[in-house]
Amino acid sequence: MTDKDFVPSSYTTDITEGKVTYKSPSNIALIKYWGKKEHQIPANPSISFTLDTCATTTTLSYKKLKNKASDFSFDLLFEGSPKEDFKPKISTFFKRTELYLPFLKAYHFTIETSNSFPHSSGIASSASGMSALALCLMELERELNPHMDTYFFKRKASFLARLGSGSACRSIEGDIMQWGLHKDTLKSSDLYAIRYPYKVHPIFKNYQDTILLVDKGSKQVSSSLGHNLMHDHPFAEQRFDQAHKNLTKLKRVFEEGNLSEFIKIVESEALTLHAMMMTSMPYFILMKPNTLEIINKIWAFRASSKTHVCFTLDAGANVHVLYPENEKEEVYQFISNELVAYCENGQYICDQIGNGAKKL
Ligand code: PMV
Repeated sequence: MTDKDFVPSSYTTDITEGKVTYKSPSNIALIKYWGKKEHQIPANPSISFTLDTCATTTTLSYKKLKNKASDFSFDLLFEGSPKEDFKPKISTFFKRTELYLPFLKAYHFTIETSNSFPHSSGIASSASGMSALALCLMELERELNPHMDTYFFKRKASFLARLGSGSACRSIEGDIMQWGLHKDTLKSSDLYAIRYPYKVHPIFKNYQDTILLVDKGSKQVSSSLGHNLMHDHPFAEQRFDQAHKNLTKLKRVFEEGNLSEFIKIVESEALTLHAMMMTSMPYFILMKPNTLEIINKIWAFRASSKTHVCFTLDAGANVHVLYPENEKEEVYQFISNELVAYCENGQYICDQIGNGAKKL
């Protein structure tokens, strides 16, 4: 599919008002997206586990205006109260998607949104938030065009979510999602994410992710700024090439259930992401001392326990602790005995692989 396939030619139904709610999860990348081209096209392919517990619920109410407005008309409520500082991000999203959703200026929207995870937990809500909004808008488009099939619906929802926040395109479905063209993945695309289409060993079923909230402060560096710093980065080309190669390796790991190899790829990807930040100009460090304490504890525990616990990081100080379901009790004991002490106010979130967004 090309982006032209997402430009509707006409609508068959007239809808005056309505309301739709979606709950959409966050996701955690195993192969990281870091660096993009124009129009939110990723510089390398990425792959993620869709999460289950960490999610955004968004209700979109829509009312047709008497005349098409000259600008987007919407109100935004976050956890029940108006939230003016979120509005510019939504306006940007509307601008980027207007070509593909030509009805946007014909309605007044009320967007009510809330997160399952604590406010300012340092967990990015852009993936869950943008995918939830994209799905609500797609539901309105499906009402305007009731013959739309589910395949197209999901692809376009992912395509639109990508225009809001790149990683959001991987939150539409579960349980493993791939975004970005890759030679070994049939039907992979830079425009939207697809469900990982190959064999996955049962060891990855219900894979656990305990998110340790090391630093709940807001990010010092936005991910858009970080992506842009990859443009003149001295190691950019090697990094993009490495992501392609890691994806090839991961395919075999998923098939065989080789957890030792899985750990090598996932931890190396996390550290490479942060290495890119530390070697850009300007350079920055998002890890905190407790991030490193946790990483060292995980390495020591893994060596002594022979479990397969490992970590990954996103663009922040929090640590995602990943482990298979059959090691849940032992690893959970370790987390509560040894790692929770490094979390801000002892806070952490127990999550696991999930099945994607749901209409409520
Ligand atoms: O979706 P963005 O633009 O916020 O970028 C997110 C990038 C990482 O979370 C660091 C990696 C990833 O692939 O999710």
